[in-house]
Amino acid sequence: MEKIRQNIYPVFGKLRKRETKEKILGQKSRVIWFSGLSGAGKTTLAKNLEDKLSGMNFIVQVLDGDNIRSGINNNLTFSEEDRKENIRRISEVSKLFLDCGIITINSFISPTREIRHMAMDIIGREDFIEVFVNAPLEICEKRDVKGLYARARKGEIKDFTGISAPFEEPVNADIEIHTDLITIDESIEKLLEFILPKIKLSI
Ligand code: ADX
Repeated sequence: MEKIRQNIYPVFGKLRKRETKEKILGQKSRVIWFSGLSGAGKTTLAKNLEDKLSGMNFIVQVLDGDNIRSGINNNLTFSEEDRKENIRRISEVSKLFLDCGIITINSFISPTREIRHMAMDIIGREDFIEVFVNAPLEICEKRDVKGLYARARKGEIKDFTGISAPFEEPVNADIEIHTDLITIDESIEKLLEFILPKIKLSI
């Protein structure tokens, strides 16, 4: 700990700069943004990617429904307007992480082109890696991990993405992962191939 402090203190005056923090952390910060239907596998991939990157000594934070919709966004519904506000706040929070040199993995349905575009505008194209976690609706519905599709079909949940609210498929994502066709390990391999060159700090 003392050693780390000694290394940090000489540059403390410059700590406000993102590059300085990136240097201290030994990485370049980026926002890795997973979009896709509920049940497509976003969270599974986000957690696996987090484990993999952490094991390689990258400092990573996952943002998902668990820590965002239960906290900072616990006043938001799934109306079109609230989904937009959900993603706007998440994008602003991600920008703060970026400025701290930290990589975030964001796992949100982000259902429309407009919403994803807004996220990219706030974060900045250079720092935004868009991943489409793609599985057909029939498969997601069959998986129904949380039992929400069945409830949405019965009309117990309104505005449910894919059933009674739209999902516009990303057409220009940086990476597309077909979770119905390849394994988790293969998915992570594909993600790393694209992401590692963007987060490695060249000395
Ligand atoms: S987003 O559309 O605003 O990006 P977000 O990713 O935060 O959505 O939340 C989606 C998660 O909330 C789903 O995985 C599901 O568990 C839960 N959920 C509850 N109600 C809905 C709904 N009406 N539509 C979609 N997801 C819902």
